Amino acid sequence: MSNEKQTIHEFDLNIIYEFFSNTERQGPGSAKETLKALSFIDGLTEKSKIADIGCGTGGQTMVLAQNTASEIIGVELWSDFVKQFNQNAQNQNLQDRVKGVVGNMENLPFQEEELDLIWSEGAIYNIGFERGINEWRKFLKLGGYIAVTENTWFSEERPAEIQDFWQKAYPEIDTISNKVAQMQKAGYLPVATYVLPETIWTDFYTWQTLRCDSFLKKHHGNKTIEEFVASERYEAELYYKY
Ligand SMILES: C[S@@+](CC[C@H](N)C(=O)[O-])C[C@H]1O[C@@H](n2cnc3c(N)ncnc32)[C@H](O)[C@@H]1O
Repeated sequence: MSNEKQTIHEFDLNIIYEFFSNTERQGPGSAKETLKALSFIDGLTEKSKIADIGCGTGGQTMVLAQNTASEIIGVELWSDFVKQFNQNAQNQNLQDRVKGVVGNMENLPFQEEELDLIWSEGAIYNIGFERGINEWRKFLKLGGYIAVTENTWFSEERPAEIQDFWQKAYPEIDTISNKVAQMQKAGYLPVATYVLPETIWTDFYTWQTLRCDSFLKKHHGNKTIEEFVASERYEAELYYKY
């Protein structure tokens, strides 16, 4: 085994999906923050159409559904997450206007100018921020909105250890101002940007720490799982260190 820590993207998808399958959200976030982002968006009605890209099991989608009257389509690569998504919609009696579909954000199942709002929490990095905002724009109606979360740097310079880790995990990581400039270049009018509160990350890493323990126990002796857990723990360790 090399000393180099692997990033999450280098592991088998089955491992990643199993790790994140027993939780309401598959990434950092909360209903409060979803609602804060939604508060910047005007004009949604029961005739509007929203797409939630990389929706996972739909934690944030159900919050959107409970706070709008619009139709919502969740697009997700992993069919087990889509099954859980549709079960969650049904449990909340939202199945008539909230549907999860198996699909790829690289080839979205929409017509040009079909959507009033594109939502994507913790997922656009899978295609890359710049590619995502550029390729998805054609699906928005004139005056439509996009709301995404993106891993960004808060300062111009960083300690080498965390710079190296995130540069490898997500080479497109950049400052907020550079991300906003990319949005403007892609033809969007930036409405709002804000930083998720620290508690979003500390809650996420608290969950992740417990999950690592139970995951290791379940897969006792599995070297790949041990490496995956080490990589997850290293990310959390860097967060708390810096
Ligand atoms: C970090 S999770 C976030 C899930 C959810 N949005 C949330 O915040 O809880 C990223 C999601 O993107 C999905 N995903 C990854 N690549 C994808 C692709 N090419 N097309 C659609 N979904 C994808 C993953 O399966 C995963 O559910």
